[in-house]
Amino acid sequence: MILSRLSPLLNVPLVRSLTRDALLQMDPEIAHGATISALRMGLGPEQTEPDAPELRTHLCGLELSNPVGMAAGFDKNAEVAKPLARMGFGMVEVGTVTPRPQSGNDKPRLFRLPGSDGVINRMGFNNEGHAAAFARLKGAHVGAILGVNIGANKDSEDFVADYVTGIGRFSEVADYLTINISSPNTPGLRNLQADEALARLLDACLKARSKAPVRVPMLLKLAPDLDETQLDAIARVIEPTDLDGLIVSNTTLSRDAVAGEDNATQTGGLSGKPLFALSTQRLAQVRQRVGTRPIIGVGGIHSPETAVMKFEAGADAIQLYSALVFGGLELLERIKRGLVASVRAQGLNSVADLTGRTTDDWAAGRFN
Ligand SMILES: Cc1cc2nc3c(=O)[nH]c(=O)nc-3n(C[C@H](O)[C@H](O)[C@H](O)COP(=O)(O)O)c2cc1C
Repeated sequence: MILSRLSPLLNVPLVRSLTRDALLQMDPEIAHGATISALRMGLGPEQTEPDAPELRTHLCGLELSNPVGMAAGFDKNAEVAKPLARMGFGMVEVGTVTPRPQSGNDKPRLFRLPGSDGVINRMGFNNEGHAAAFARLKGAHVGAILGVNIGANKDSEDFVADYVTGIGRFSEVADYLTINISSPNTPGLRNLQADEALARLLDACLKARSKAPVRVPMLLKLAPDLDETQLDAIARVIEPTDLDGLIVSNTTLSRDAVAGEDNATQTGGLSGKPLFALSTQRLAQVRQRVGTRPIIGVGGIHSPETAVMKFEAGADAIQLYSALVFGGLELLERIKRGLVASVRAQGLNSVADLTGRTTDDWAAGRFN
């Protein structure tokens, strides 16, 4: 009762920014836990107006009321997919989930880089395992496109088998599945991006998908730390398959954009604003290699302008996470308004018309 009375207060900008400032004072992982708890209790902001028609789009045969998603890693255990949809995300990607629960790396394992609005994490796929996430998602009407991001247990003897198990488990409840082979925090995982290993993995995953009662779109999430030769090899492996799309990108091991900053030497993957240029260039380079195959662009989006740039570089839809730490949850609304304004200002009909307008410039590094 008290909580439901408090809820409207969170829509008052002053209170919301105070909340954000308070969260920024806390240890980052405690702040994240507090945010998940608040969302679970119904204290999150709620979208009041329907999405503008310009935002409606299609991805891998799915209809999205808007193309802005919550990236994987925020809701690792599928606890708040519904509140995130109510906030106005057009898609929510939960996970990464692994077959068995695992506690992840020792704390502290999540660090803010306040000088550049960056985040470094070495969480290590801490999650409650398939069964817990599945129980929460079964029969749930999320209200947005639901992605389930699947991974492998750190101590697994057969990484490929873990993905196959995930596909069997979540095909029934997910609108799409993400094969995440790009987390830098599970030793050996990124080796699955190498061509022969990737071919074996995709073969096993696509076979598993074909055995499931429903054909769920499957996307592959890549690291930004791949060079063009590696991207060529990945494109060659993907080309003959019916993989539905790609997500570019996960966090980076590079520290070039944050050298000398507090926390920059922490081990883990860097995300947020300092990842924007690198991940957007990789997105464009992937776009050049995969034709019209759908791509979700993620990495460093922190404003309406950077959201527009992701589309122009080649994305069909976008996701974000780290910028919400610094910009607060209302950033989502600002980004959606900015996308509509950009579509209208250019005399276009839909966000889909923005896709790929500057791919070649981004790929060549002319914006970095
Ligand atoms: C704390 C944290 C945990 C993450 N966990 C996952 C994960 O479990 N699986 C995954 O595919 N990506 C994970 N990511 C990566 C994000 O999904 C995203 O690809 C990356 O952060 C770049 O987007 P951003 O700059 O908007 O945060 C995580 C990111 C952060 C910051």
